[in-house]
Amino acid sequence: MIRGIATGLDEGRTTHLMEELCREAAAFRFDVAPNPCVGAALFAGDREVARGFHRFWGGPHAEVEALAAAAGSDVAPELWDLLVVTLEPCSSRGKTGPCVDAILAAGIPRVVVGALDPNPRHRGAGLERLRAGGVEVVLLEGTAPIERVAPHFARWTSSDRLRRPRPWTIAKWAQTRSGQLTPPDDVGEGRWISTAASLEEVAVLRGRVDAIVSGVGTVLADDPRFTVRPPGAVDAAPLRVVLDSCLRTPPDAALFRGPAPGEGAGAVHLLSLAGVGAARALDLEAAGASVHGLQGTESGGHVSLSAVEAWLWDAGVRRVLVEAGPTLLRAWLDAGAVDQVRVFTGAVNGGRGLSMGEWLGSAILDGRQERECGEDAVLEGFPRPV
Ligand SMILES: NC(=O)c1ccc[n+]([C@@H]2O[C@H](COP(=O)([O-])OP(=O)(O)OC[C@H]3O[C@@H](n4cnc5c(N)ncnc54)[C@H](OP(=O)(O)O)[C@@H]3O)[C@@H](O)[C@H]2O)c1
Repeated sequence: MIRGIATGLDEGRTTHLMEELCREAAAFRFDVAPNPCVGAALFAGDREVARGFHRFWGGPHAEVEALAAAAGSDVAPELWDLLVVTLEPCSSRGKTGPCVDAILAAGIPRVVVGALDPNPRHRGAGLERLRAGGVEVVLLEGTAPIERVAPHFARWTSSDRLRRPRPWTIAKWAQTRSGQLTPPDDVGEGRWISTAASLEEVAVLRGRVDAIVSGVGTVLADDPRFTVRPPGAVDAAPLRVVLDSCLRTPPDAALFRGPAPGEGAGAVHLLSLAGVGAARALDLEAAGASVHGLQGTESGGHVSLSAVEAWLWDAGVRRVLVEAGPTLLRAWLDAGAVDQVRVFTGAVNGGRGLSMGEWLGSAILDGRQERECGEDAVLEGFPRPV
């Protein structure tokens, strides 16, 4: 029996279960970040009825997933008597409703929790709300430490980050075997490095961010649209933001054409240096962009990345995807402001432009994972802050 709680589980089984839930939850780390990885299991007596995990940012939380999976089981809800969850259930509305409400509504009488929410604004609030609702709650501190299960969430909720908030920044690029972002002229019309499977993955990723950010170099070279195509969530198309210090984006750029049927496209924002080209700004606004003048870097040459981050945060952007060429990518990585990377290496030799190989060779990636996507190799990780 778990201390102070009558359940069909003994403490050893609960600790083992917590470990399993943590391990399984961590498999979703790159899709949920900056949210924490969380796993939950619902019991009826000593029978495990269902498990649930937080699988992607903006998606249902683990507790809600477990309750939904249990609803599809042959065990009647009146028999559900214990929820084991790796992290304190949330008590405030974010992208989804509070989990404590879902637990109370389901009438679960007992909840065992593996760790408190590290965010001082929420810490303990979920447990209090459950107790106030008549739920017996046990905190098994140390069984699911957030620093081990979801170190990225510890960073996201650090006092420094809470004091100076900026969006969770994911840098994604496709490179040739030599780490170059532009293929040789004779490959894929000089354009594609990664294969269709990777492009599908990117479509899903685009549908799970609030904004896509690129540099004017990419707009001039590729004339991209940055739309979301199925299987991405076309209804939740992110803002399209271009860092364009001197407003070199052409007013007839593809960005300003409407999305193709079945695609989603967010509003276009051009971030330039304050005070540049008033007449050009009017042309671009007539074409469909919103133009914003920001502070420059110390040298004054480009818009400042910290001003960009502040602008994004104020615009409500919490998760951002940087899909830029090597110039902007390196500037962002060198500033230590990238939280997560996803790198697709295609089966293409050679290439043009700056190689990302040097950066990749020296970066320390926490939670590093290497996998395959179609014929491409994919590397993901959370760059250790410099
Ligand atoms: N394989 C891939 O994943 C991928 C993705 C995107 C692009 N690309 C390729 O990359 C090439 C273009 O590379 P690129 O490096 O020119 O494009 P980029 O990195 O997208 O854009 C660079 C431009 O961003 C602007 N910028 C604004 N603020 C900046 C800041 N704080 N720091 C640095 N730059 C800032 C600068 O122009 P201003 O000073 O005028 O603002 C700079 O020239 C193309 O060949 C394209 O096909 C490949």
